[in-house]
Amino acid sequence: MNTNFDTIAHIIRARRTVKATAMNGQKIPQSAIEQLLSLADHAPTHGRTEPWRFKIYTGSALKEFGQEHAQLYWENTPEDKRVEIKRDGLLLSAERASHLLIVTMKRTPNSKIPLMEEYAAVAAAVQNILLGAEALQLAAIWSTGGMALKPEMKTLLQLSEEDQVVGFLYLGYTDEPKREPMRRISIDDKTHWV
Ligand SMILES: Cc1cc2nc3c(=O)[nH]c(=O)nc-3n(C[C@H](O)[C@H](O)[C@H](O)COP(=O)(O)O)c2cc1C
Repeated sequence: MNTNFDTIAHIIRARRTVKATAMNGQKIPQSAIEQLLSLADHAPTHGRTEPWRFKIYTGSALKEFGQEHAQLYWENTPEDKRVEIKRDGLLLSAERASHLLIVTMKRTPNSKIPLMEEYAAVAAAVQNILLGAEALQLAAIWSTGGMALKPEMKTLLQLSEEDQVVGFLYLGYTDEPKREPMRRISIDDKTHWV
């Protein structure tokens, strides 16, 4: 019997991160991206602040953003710490992904909701997208690499002081085989029944 639980459990267990550099450049239809955004919008939200925001890049805008990101990395990393492979990875990610969703947290002014809870609500929205992407057989990664969490990125994205980048979601397709699920700590060791 195929219950709703079986369906969602299969999607949750099957989801695996795919690096943007392992994507193949194939384009996702915009309607699919819109479907994912509508799932994000159903995340739980304390005080109904709905703090998730999305900036979506595709096509030439994504490639331009990749160049800006790579340049930002290069210019803001001390010479002895710069890694060419890292810079090239940022460029390649923008070449191979279909879409980049920059997910940010919009801090509600004068909110009684703790910052951590607004961040948590956005993280739940991100997971909704990742699960929807799995159900649509898309490749996806939640990345905070490169300059994603650096103050220079906030400036580039014109975020206000209290707002935060929560993740860069690269979406696309891949030709690579799916990795097996791997968890280091068993669920029993993370659980205490009382
Ligand atoms: C907040 C957050 C940030 C992440 N940032 C990166 C990243 O910058 N680069 C990366 O390769 N993976 C990143 N990941 C993905 C993890 O590497 C991945 O979830 C982990 O390896 C487990 O694999 P799975 O997603 O396939 O279960 C991030 C995940 C989270 C939750």
